Amino acid sequence: MSERKPIVGGNWKMNLHAADAEALIAGLADAGLPDSVETVVCPAFPYLAAAAKQLEGTGIMLGAQDVYYEANGAFTGEVSCSMLKDIGVQWVLTGHSERRHVIGETDVMVNAKTRAALDAGLSVILCIGEKIEQREANQTDAINAGQLAYGLAGVSAEDLSRVVIAYEPVWAIGTGKTASTEDAEKAHAAIRGVLANLYDQSAADAMRIQYGGSCKPGNAAELFSQPDIDGGLIGGAALKVADFKAIIEAAAGVATA
Ligand code: PGA
Repeated sequence: MSERKPIVGGNWKMNLHAADAEALIAGLADAGLPDSVETVVCPAFPYLAAAAKQLEGTGIMLGAQDVYYEANGAFTGEVSCSMLKDIGVQWVLTGHSERRHVIGETDVMVNAKTRAALDAGLSVILCIGEKIEQREANQTDAINAGQLAYGLAGVSAEDLSRVVIAYEPVWAIGTGKTASTEDAEKAHAAIRGVLANLYDQSAADAMRIQYGGSCKPGNAAELFSQPDIDGGLIGGAALKVADFKAIIEAAAGVATA
């Protein structure tokens, strides 16, 4: 049994306006979530400040879905790490597949964002994962290794303790298709091997690696029972209290098993 504390994140993406975001946080705050699991919610930018206040004292942590790597200045539309810190954000997502493949972020940008966030004292969920054509060409492990090496370039072993990796096969995100438990575990074990090469075995053993991509109450427990899967990054199923709670409880069941 792993000694890593499971972590479940809710990536709300560009969903939920103020009233719905408030209701979801209120529901989660009242849900009696197990504290053997770290829980992070990532609302859209306009609602982060209100969410920070609402989450005070709940034990649920707050994440942003993105951040810019410069400290300040003429970067119209962007938000800095210190602005996020200022309003009580603790986590940021970097390298999410929608930012890589829809918005066009490069590995260089993902790395700059990851480093800037860590330098500012934020914790990071660094997302990696292969596209369907890469999986079909047996490139899953190579893509993950490349995205890890780029994403973590210049990140010290000390800062690594504030990084969580989310393995999210792109073809599984929002599609209802999930990697089989076996394939997911295989990818996670390979990711841990890459981390051991980049740092060392004990750093790799300490790192949490989440699975993401159509994770839901019906498949969470089996995925999380795998030795190298330490929780999940959840999109669609994070938008309903009952579903998100069930997924967090699945992670808790594994944690205390
Ligand atoms: P999904 O999204 O759970 O809706 O597939 C996961 C993610 O993009 O983090």
